[in-house]
Amino acid sequence: MDAPYRIRTASVADAERLAVLERAVFSDPWSRDGLAELLAAPHVTARVAEARGGIIGYAIARSIGTTAELLNLAVEPRHRRRGLGQALLDDMLAALRARGITEVFLEVRVSNQAARQLYQRAGFRPAGMRRAYYRRPLEDALVLRRDLSGAA
Ligand SMILES: CC(C)(COP(=O)(O)OP(=O)(O)OC[C@H]1O[C@@H](n2cnc3c(N)ncnc32)[C@H](O)[C@@H]1OP(=O)(O)O)[C@@H](O)C(=O)NCCC(=O)NCCS
Repeated sequence: MDAPYRIRTASVADAERLAVLERAVFSDPWSRDGLAELLAAPHVTARVAEARGGIIGYAIARSIGTTAELLNLAVEPRHRRRGLGQALLDDMLAALRARGITEVFLEVRVSNQAARQLYQRAGFRPAGMRRAYYRRPLEDALVLRRDLSGAA
């Protein structure tokens, strides 16, 4: 059976919808304007999963040289636990590798077990902590790193 969604590159025109998803998913969301600026930047890789009804998940990364930072990964709540987060992450890592990126960092709330489990399974490993990094609520961030220099 074909996947009920397709993953494609995000464009500035998607900023509005992504802002709606941000507000539904995160307590400290990116604004529409902030997302539009991000999506227009040349060193940003942004991918969305689109189903018949519209965008249901996305991943955004920013790179400097051969290092990338995964800024956001989110799946609309009613579409979770069906492999979409994993598919978006795999797709993003492949896109970054194709751009010559050799390592990826990200921050995740220490309490975010779902994301931590997903990243652990995708080969991310602890690389540090940022104390009181998040607001609303105040929380530490765990910094994770994934080596992309080896074989896929
Ligand atoms: C994290 C997130 C993207 C996962 O999306 P998803 O589509 O549900 O993930 P998948 O279905 O691909 O799950 C892949 C694996 O991740 C882990 N996982 C996902 N959700 C989990 C949960 N609620 N509890 C524990 N493990 C979980 C599991 O290992 C899962 O594999 P399994 O279903 O075979 O057990 C989604 O929960 C989300 O959008 N959360 C809010 C935003 C967020 O926290 N983003 C990450 C920080 S930037």
